[in-house]
Amino acid sequence: MAVQLAPSILSADFARLADEAEAVSGVADWLHVDVMDYHFVPNLTIGLPVVEALLKHTGLPLDCHLMIDEPDRWAPGYAEAGAGNVTIHAEASRSPVRTLRMIRAAGARAGLALNPGTPVEPWEDLLPELDMLLLMTVEPGFGGQSFLDLVLPKLRRARELASRRGTAVWLQVDGGVSAETIERCADAGADVFVAGSAVYDADDRAGAVQSLRALAEQATARASWSDQDTSG
Ligand code: DX5
Ligand code: ZN
Repeated sequence: MAVQLAPSILSADFARLADEAEAVSGVADWLHVDVMDYHFVPNLTIGLPVVEALLKHTGLPLDCHLMIDEPDRWAPGYAEAGAGNVTIHAEASRSPVRTLRMIRAAGARAGLALNPGTPVEPWEDLLPELDMLLLMTVEPGFGGQSFLDLVLPKLRRARELASRRGTAVWLQVDGGVSAETIERCADAGADVFVAGSAVYDADDRAGAVQSLRALAEQATARASWSDQDTSG
């Protein structure tokens, strides 16, 4: 799997979202959209109307990360609106298989997110239902937090599980991903990298994305898991 970069607009200027999306179009693979509801996480951001508006102003596929209660009720709507990927949290979903299938049926990729303290092993049998597994590398809710190295062993185990089962699931990391931490993530098995403040706090957003990609690609080429990976 090639390295993919997903800048998070959580650290962008919310009054200029179309421009902020444009600043990374051509260099980013996805635009990561953090949906927060003040219940699942102690922060409130944007919802479906803003996602629908953004879809009209960017050619980048939207990677919607739903940090909300009742994702089973709301997630399919994001897929129907045209999001390229919709990720729900394992901790919040009561019927993840049904919801992941509804996301796929609506034409989007389906993602499942795990908080730092949520183990990956109980979710092994669901891997075939997923297009992407997101391992949070901070507690969700805010941009600009410090990267949690304690998630790296889980990331290695997730990569092993995916390789052993031969699934093509992408492994995404989100939270504190920067030029200082991205190589550790790639080395441990991540292939999709969300970066909020590391991109949108930079004067040159496109340059920041390109630098992060170069670091991740170099670390992936050195990583032992990339020789064995069968997910293509
Ligand atoms: C945090 C969000 C992240 C956030 C990451 O709960 O899910 O996507 O934007 O921001 P940084 O990269 O600044 O940690
Ligand atoms: Zn996110």
